[in-house]
Amino acid sequence: MNILEGKKIRKVFSREGFLGEQLGCVEALKGVDFRVSAGEILGIVGESGSGKSTLARIICSLEKPTSGSLIWSEKIFTEKKRKLHPAQMVFQNPYGSLNPKLTVGYMLREAISAGALKPLKSIKEEELRDVLADVGLEEISLFSYPHQFSGGQKQRLGIARALALKPRLLVCDEPVSALDISVQAQILELICRINSEKKLSVIFIAHDIEVVSMISSSILVMKDGRAVEYGKAEDIINRPSAAYTKKLIEAVPVNPYL
Ligand SMILES: Nc1ncnc2c1ncn2[C@@H]1O[C@H](COP(=O)(O)OP(=O)(O)O)[C@@H](O)[C@H]1O
Ligand SMILES: [Mg+2]
Repeated sequence: MNILEGKKIRKVFSREGFLGEQLGCVEALKGVDFRVSAGEILGIVGESGSGKSTLARIICSLEKPTSGSLIWSEKIFTEKKRKLHPAQMVFQNPYGSLNPKLTVGYMLREAISAGALKPLKSIKEEELRDVLADVGLEEISLFSYPHQFSGGQKQRLGIARALALKPRLLVCDEPVSALDISVQAQILELICRINSEKKLSVIFIAHDIEVVSMISSSILVMKDGRAVEYGKAEDIINRPSAAYTKKLIEAVPVNPYL
């Protein structure tokens, strides 16, 4: 079952100069089709500027497509109490995406309250602990501030906040690109665990096809605003058909001593 289908998604940005004069247009997405099935991890890979973040923002309604349509499964739309968007975003930069003035406890309380449609004050500490346990941060102080955490911990907090908003689809836009290699693996593992334990569909975006292949069940390869290849991860990695996908796979470094 699909939870979301995107049809011919196009996005044109008009560029304005310093004085508001038109400097032409950028067609960031040139008619992209994709599907996300229930419980799957869809990987989106492509070089910088290929339109990945624009697509992610459109899926989360942070941006409107110029044309094309997003079709959510009817079941999601008929959930009576759903007021929040079904797709929530985890951003690349965990430093910039958390409000530095809010304690961890307050930030999560706000998100849980919005996700559960309950007043802020009625959220119990236990509920905060549950969300923190989901991302492996059960021990931290609720009175701490984002700057007191490492990059990996901040990214876990970003994931916790998105989960607290009860999404049906978690959209992770390069969630490991700003992290050290050892921490990257832990965050990938966490996203896999959340996907399988909560049966939550995930879109996982990266510029590195090796990272995407480790975690995805299907893969969408993007180049210059187009989907150049789309299919099961296994087929795309073992039998890529587009020249660009082959190039991405060949670019993965191999240790000559092994
Ligand atoms: N708000 C914007 N205004 C103008 N151009 C934009 C805007 N956002 C993205 N773009 C352009 O759209 C193209 C795709 O960008 P983006 O979606 O960020 O790609 P990616 O995430 O794959 O690096 C780029 O050429 C970028 O410069
Ligand atoms: Mg991007």
